Amino acid sequence: MTLTAWVNGRFLPLDEATVHIEDRGFQFADGVYEVIACFGGTFLDLDAHLDRLLRSCENIAINMPVPLHELKTLIEQTYRHNPFEDAMIYVQITRGAAPRSHLAQRELTPTMVITSRELPMPSAESISDGVSAITLDDMRWKRCDIKSIALLASVIGKQEAAFRGADETFWLDEQQHVLEGCATNCFAAIRGALVTHPLDHQVLGGITRNMVLRIARAHDITVEERPWKLTETGLTECMMSSTTNAIMPVCHINGENIGTGKPGPMAIQLRGWMLDEFEKLKKTS
Ligand code: PDD
Repeated sequence: MTLTAWVNGRFLPLDEATVHIEDRGFQFADGVYEVIACFGGTFLDLDAHLDRLLRSCENIAINMPVPLHELKTLIEQTYRHNPFEDAMIYVQITRGAAPRSHLAQRELTPTMVITSRELPMPSAESISDGVSAITLDDMRWKRCDIKSIALLASVIGKQEAAFRGADETFWLDEQQHVLEGCATNCFAAIRGALVTHPLDHQVLGGITRNMVLRIARAHDITVEERPWKLTETGLTECMMSSTTNAIMPVCHINGENIGTGKPGPMAIQLRGWMLDEFEKLKKTS
């Protein structure tokens, strides 16, 4: 299928969909983005993604290029041009194009790009055996709650993980607490509770994280939003969540087994409950 993108007011074949070389997204990473899953034509938590996009824009003083209801329509239209059974919608908004100067000299027209592609799925092997991670000291900025397109630290983290044969990097704060991954939120099963770092400037408020916590609570799993370490007594499982992974068991960290080194019961149950919800979405479409 030739992909069609929406770029600054027009639908175009992906190869022809371009932005200006002086776009501030290109020159300064001066922009924000969202990644949204769509199952059988129904978007997962679309309102929550749009709220977060709006907050990201407000945080860096970019005006939303269109009202949210119009953006919703554009996202739906982009999906209809590229109607994959399981799709991944990407929305990027930058401050716009202008001659290069750190301070934008005037109010610019924001650039907006929307694409729809096939949702990448974790391999059968990573679902059955779990994935692996390494840890690195957090080298990112102090506003990780903004979904910024400035992702160089994440790129470096992913490269280092791949170099060491792992799938993800978990960022650690100065006290060695696990914050989040390069593109995932992180969880542990500790003495039967599901533990994850609280929402603050050091983590992104993942939409999937919210879903995981909601589902866990609905099934009477105790949820603790608090700082945690890999060395905690009673830690039996680690997991990571994102739009593109749902929840995945992380069974090896820095070459060591977590628990038995196999996906644990909490990860398996949570993943099963999430996939059930995705199936229900497909049936509503
Ligand atoms: N990344 N933390 C970080 C740093 C992320 O980049 C992401 C998502 C998440 C999970 O957020 P959500 O559950 O809303 O997808 C947490 C996306 C998928 C990406 O950059 O491709």
